[in-house]
Amino acid sequence: MKIAVLRERAAGETRVSASPETCKKFIALGAKVAIESGAGITASISDEEYRAAGAEVCDNPVVGADIVLGVQGPEPELLAGANPGAWIVAGLDPFGKRARIDAYAAAGYEALAMEFMPRITRAQSMDILSSQSNLAGYKAVLVAANLYGRAFPMMMTAAGTVSAAKCFVMGVGVAGLQAIATARRLGAQVSATDVRSATKEQIQSLGAKPIFVESVAGIEGEGAGGYATEMSEEYQKAQAELVSAHIAKQDIVITTALIPGRPAPRLISDAQIATMKPGSVIYDLAVAQGGNVEGSVADQVVEKHGVKIVGYANTPAHLAADASALFARNLFNFLSAFWDKEQGKPVLDEEIGNAIRCTQGGKVVNERLLG
Ligand code: NAI
Repeated sequence: MKIAVLRERAAGETRVSASPETCKKFIALGAKVAIESGAGITASISDEEYRAAGAEVCDNPVVGADIVLGVQGPEPELLAGANPGAWIVAGLDPFGKRARIDAYAAAGYEALAMEFMPRITRAQSMDILSSQSNLAGYKAVLVAANLYGRAFPMMMTAAGTVSAAKCFVMGVGVAGLQAIATARRLGAQVSATDVRSATKEQIQSLGAKPIFVESVAGIEGEGAGGYATEMSEEYQKAQAELVSAHIAKQDIVITTALIPGRPAPRLISDAQIATMKPGSVIYDLAVAQGGNVEGSVADQVVEKHGVKIVGYANTPAHLAADASALFARNLFNFLSAFWDKEQGKPVLDEEIGNAIRCTQGGKVVNERLLG
């Protein structure tokens, strides 16, 4: 059983899908690990560290590989020489990169999309969306604080008082919760909103103020797997009014709202941005899914009405070392949980296998990609 780790090719991708720690653990399971030379450099991991962990560092790790790991899905031509039916295990972006999924199928690979991991208790340690969103929520607040021309905490100085920044977090999933906690640690006055009513208590327990639509009855906002559902027009209107009143008083806004398989909901309009104070900062963590904020641009900081709008599409890549360490552990936790000692390779069960398997036997097999 040979596991290959490629250097990431996507622009701005600094992470790597294996760490020296996970290489050592794969080797302890009986696998061989081959890493492409330089794969860890942007995540502060040298070839030497991989070698010391027992991995082979070379230019063509994929030759003879049974499993190829990636942060993002590798281009199919990089997989030449992998064993027939090899597993491709990565964040494959199956909706966004559909042609690549079809190419994996045509080449006979078994592509496993880690972002399709079901949200069940036993899969928590394998969930790349959680591990990366957590870091993204933290980093978004730091970047916003850095771009903000004022302080976050209240400060009483001999020269006068500096007032605390007001920070509003929209979307209180994994990233939003970490954004609230980080902004609180920095001393901001924090408020937050979500469509899932279950988050109200979580917001309060972090010392922030919940801002919720109360006027539209009978809405839980929670769909399958704890994810949000798309809201009714009536709700969206009520939410827009509530946000308009609140946002004009905010200095920092972090948006994280996503709906699986759908474009990100639009939460902030240009007209609402115009009501904010000049110098305010908005960080749109949903920019890669279409954006929560009108006018946000992927990988740019744009200024509208004196408000800076940050649209870094791959925020975890700005914390490459920690993001890689957690991502690598997610992959190890997944593969090791299914490791069959006798066969010397992982064998998936139906629940998780059917959820994440995109291609098998030359075909696209995932029901989310069919139909
Ligand atoms: P996500 O990244 O899909 O979305 C982020 C947040 O945006 C969610 O809280 C969602 O409700 C919210 N949102 C969507 N539309 C909105 C709108 N129009 N206005 C305001 N907010 C909106 O969500 P994430 O971070 O993946 O977490 C979703 C849930 O899944 C959480 O309850 C989390 O604790 C749970 N979870 C469970 C896991 C497990 O059991 N393995 C792993 C990870 C998360």
